[in-house]
Amino acid sequence: MIKINPYTPGAGIIPGYLAGRDNLIDSAKELLTYISLGQTQQSYIYYGLRGVGKTVLLNVIEKNAESNDFIYEHLEISENHDFKIDIAIHLQKIILRLSRIEKIKDKFKKVLGILKAFTLKIDDFDFTFDVDAITGQADTGNFQNDLTELFVQIGNLAHSADQKIAIFIDEIQYLKYDDFEALIAATHRIHQKGYPFVIFGAGLPKIAKMAGDAKSYAERLFEFVKVDSLREPYNRLALVEPAKRFGVTYTDDALDMIIEITDGYPYFLQEFGRQVWDYRDNDLINAESVNKAHDSFLSKLDDSFFKVRFDRATGNEKKFMFAMSELGEGPYEINSIASMLAKEQNQIAIDRANLINKGFVYSTRYGYLDFTVPQFSKFLRRIRSK
Ligand SMILES: Nc1ncnc2c1ncn2[C@@H]1O[C@H](COP(=O)(O)OP(=O)(O)OP(=O)(O)O)[C@@H](O)[C@H]1O
Ligand SMILES: [Mg+2]
Repeated sequence: MIKINPYTPGAGIIPGYLAGRDNLIDSAKELLTYISLGQTQQSYIYYGLRGVGKTVLLNVIEKNAESNDFIYEHLEISENHDFKIDIAIHLQKIILRLSRIEKIKDKFKKVLGILKAFTLKIDDFDFTFDVDAITGQADTGNFQNDLTELFVQIGNLAHSADQKIAIFIDEIQYLKYDDFEALIAATHRIHQKGYPFVIFGAGLPKIAKMAGDAKSYAERLFEFVKVDSLREPYNRLALVEPAKRFGVTYTDDALDMIIEITDGYPYFLQEFGRQVWDYRDNDLINAESVNKAHDSFLSKLDDSFFKVRFDRATGNEKKFMFAMSELGEGPYEINSIASMLAKEQNQIAIDRANLINKGFVYSTRYGYLDFTVPQFSKFLRRIRSK
C-alpha cells in the first residue's frame, strides 16, 4: 500500500494538480507581461468564499512574477494588525532589494529616507537603517497622501532601475475602510504614472462592494475576478489527476458521490481525496471507499476547517449563525433570521455587522446574508444535533 498521500488540504497549499484555473492564470500572466512592457494596466482582486483557492492563486501568480524577475512582496491582512506597519515593513524590503541595483544607488537613499519619515509617525516602529529621515513628503499624517507618496517614490525608483514590482495582498477584506481607500488611491496614482508596479489582492466577496463604496474609480482600477467552486470536468480532475500519478483510479460513481458531497469546493475535494485514499481497494477508489471515508471526512472538517472559524465567534454571534442554519440553506433574509431569534431587525444589527466584519457572513444582496464558509450551515446543524 502506498503511504504517501497526494492530496493537499490546507490553507494556501498549491495542490499537485491545480484544476480549472488556467484562464485566471493566463490573464494574470498577461498582466505581468504588460507591466514588463511598461504598459501598466489594471490591478487584479480575486474574491470568493473560504477554501475556494484564492491564496493558492496568489501563490501561483507570485511564482510567475518571480520567474519574470519581478521584485515582489506578500502580505496577509489580519483583523487586529495595523496595516500601516505591515505595508511599511514590506515597502522597506522592496526598497532594499532595489538598492542592490547599481544605477540607482544614489536615489534609493532618498526613498529610504522618505519611508523613514513615514515610519517615525508610527508608534513602536523599529526602523533598522541608518539614514536621515526626509520629512515633508510621506509624513503628513494623512495616510492616503502618505501611502500614495511612498508608492509613487518606489514606482519611480523601480522605473529608473528597469525593475518591476508586484505586491500581493491576501485577506484584503480585513482592511479598515480608510486603509482600503488609501490603498486604492495610491494604486490609482502609480497606474496613472505608468510605473511598473502592480497589486494583486484576494479576499471575501464583500471586497467588491467595499471598493465601490470607497472610490468611484475603484471598479475601473481593479478588475474584480470571482473565484468559484470547481465545475465539470475540473472537479473530477482535481480528484483524478493526483491519484493517477500513483496508478490509482476512481470509478465514475465514486467521483459522482464525492462531487455531490463537496459541491466541488477545492478545500473539500482535497480533504475528501486525502481521506478516501486510505480506503481504496488496491488501485481503485469505488463507491464503497467513498462511503467508508465519509465520516472521517466530516469529522476532519468539523475539527479543523469549520472549528477554527466557529471558535472566533462570540456567544451572541453563534446564536445568530445557528438561527441562520436552522432556516436551511442560504441566502437568508435578515427578517427571517430576526424572527428565528424572536427579535426585531434593529436588535440584531450589531451582531450582523460584527459577523460581516469578522468575515463569517456577507451580504448577497440588499436584505440577505449568507455564510462565507461553504457548507457552514450543515456544520452548524451537525454540531447542534450532537
Ligand atoms: N484549483 C485547485 N485545484 C485543486 N485544489 C485546489 C485548487 N485551488 C485550491 N485548492 C486547494 O484548496 C484548498 C484551499 O485553498 P486556499 O487556501 O487557496 O483557499 P482560499 O480561498 O484562500 O481560502 P480562505 O478564504 O479560507 O483563505 C487548499 O488545500 C488547496 O490545495
Ligand atoms: Mg486564503
